[in-house]
Amino acid sequence: MNDASSLRTVDVGGATPYVIAIGPDLLRDGARLAAPVRGRHVLIVSDDTVSPLYASRVRAALVQARPQLQVGELVIPAGEASKTLDHFGAAITALAELGATRDACVFALGGGVVGDLAGFAAACWMRGVDCVQLPTTLLSMVDSSVGGKTAVDIPQGKNLVGAFHPPRAVIADTTALHSLPARELRAGLAEVIKYGAIRDPLFFQWLAAEREALLRGEAGATAQAIARSCEHKAEIVERDPLEKGERALLNLGHTFGHAIETEQGYGAPHNDNLNHGEAVAVGMVLAARLSARLGMAPAADTDTLRALLEAYGLPTTIPAGLDPQALLARMRLDKKNVAGRLRLVLWRGIGQAEVVPDVDEAAVLDVLRG
Ligand SMILES: NC(=O)c1ccc[n+]([C@@H]2O[C@H](COP(=O)([O-])OP(=O)(O)OC[C@H]3O[C@@H](n4cnc5c(N)ncnc54)[C@H](O)[C@@H]3O)[C@@H](O)[C@H]2O)c1
Repeated sequence: MNDASSLRTVDVGGATPYVIAIGPDLLRDGARLAAPVRGRHVLIVSDDTVSPLYASRVRAALVQARPQLQVGELVIPAGEASKTLDHFGAAITALAELGATRDACVFALGGGVVGDLAGFAAACWMRGVDCVQLPTTLLSMVDSSVGGKTAVDIPQGKNLVGAFHPPRAVIADTTALHSLPARELRAGLAEVIKYGAIRDPLFFQWLAAEREALLRGEAGATAQAIARSCEHKAEIVERDPLEKGERALLNLGHTFGHAIETEQGYGAPHNDNLNHGEAVAVGMVLAARLSARLGMAPAADTDTLRALLEAYGLPTTIPAGLDPQALLARMRLDKKNVAGRLRLVLWRGIGQAEVVPDVDEAAVLDVLRG
C-alpha cells in the first residue's frame, strides 16, 4: 500500500460507473488518457497557471495515442473569479468552434475551478458530452473531480448554477502536486481531514500521525490519503448521486465556508482571502462548535479537530471584518435549506456527521459571533 510508484484505482459504481486512477506521471500516459474518448474531438480546458505546466504533455500523449484526434484548448485565468457564466460561455464557444459533436470529450485539466466549469460546459453542450477530469490540486483529486457535481458562481452565491454530470474517468497524476503551492496543498488536506471528521475516526487518527509526511508531500502517504478520500467519496456518491440524503454529509463545514467565501468576495484574488479549503476548515470548526452548543457533541471533539487543523497550518477562525449577520444571510441561501429553514451538517463527534434540519438561527448567530 505504501509503494509510491504503484497505481491505485478506486471504482465509482452506480448508474454511470467510472474509475479513478491515482498515480505518478499519468498525464503522460496516452493510452489511459485516450481510452475514455469516444469520438474525434477533445477540448482541453485549463487555467493560465496549469496550462503552461501540463497541457502540452497531455496533448502530446493524446495525439500520439490517437493521431486522428482534433484537440482544442481553452485557457481561463486561474482562480475562483473565473468560475463564471462568461467563462462557461467561452467554453461553449470553444466547443462550437472545434465543431464538437455528441461524442466529443471535454478534458478538465486543473483544480476544482476548472473541473467545475469544464464539467458544466460538458453537461450542457448538446445536452451532455463526456468529461474526463484531470485534477491537478489535492483538493480536486480528493473531492471536486469525483461525484459529478458541476457549477459556476454568480454574484449572489457560489455554485448556484450547475448540473450533476458524472465524469467518464478521473485521472489524478500525483506528480502534478510537486508544483502545487504549499498553501493549496494544505487547502486540499482540509478536505482530506473532512472525511475523517464525517465518517472515519481511524483515518482521522492516521492523519494526525502522518502529518509531517503529508505536509512534505511524501509520495506514499499522499497517494494513500487521496485513495482513502476517494473511497469515501465514491461510497457516498454511489448510494446518493443526486444528494437526496447522505451525500449532504460531505458538506460538513461548507455552509459556513461558502458564506465566508461569498462574503469576502471572490472578485479579485486577495492574499488575505481564504480559499475554498481554508474556508471549509473554518467552517468545520464552526459546525463542531455549534454541535457542542446544541448539546449534540462533546466540546472536547471541537478542540481535537481545531488542534489537528491548526497543526496542518489551516485557519480555524472567521477572518476579521466579516459581519456575522451578513454571514447568516448568506447561509440562508444555501441549497441544502428546505422551506426557508436552515439545514446544516453538524456532528455527534469525530467520525459521526449528521444532517440537522431546522437549526435555530440564534444559536448559529452566537457561534458566528464567537
Ligand atoms: N464539484 C464538487 O463536488 C466540488 C467539491 C469541492 C470543491 N469544489 C470547487 O472547487 C474549487 C476549488 O478548487 P481548488 O482548490 O482546486 O482551486 P483552483 O482550481 O482555483 O486551484 C487553486 C490554484 O492552484 C493552481 N494550480 C492548480 N493545480 C496546480 C499545480 N499542479 N501546480 C501549480 N498550481 C496549480 C490553480 O491555477 C489555482 O491558482 C471551488 O470552486 C469549489 O467550489 C467543487
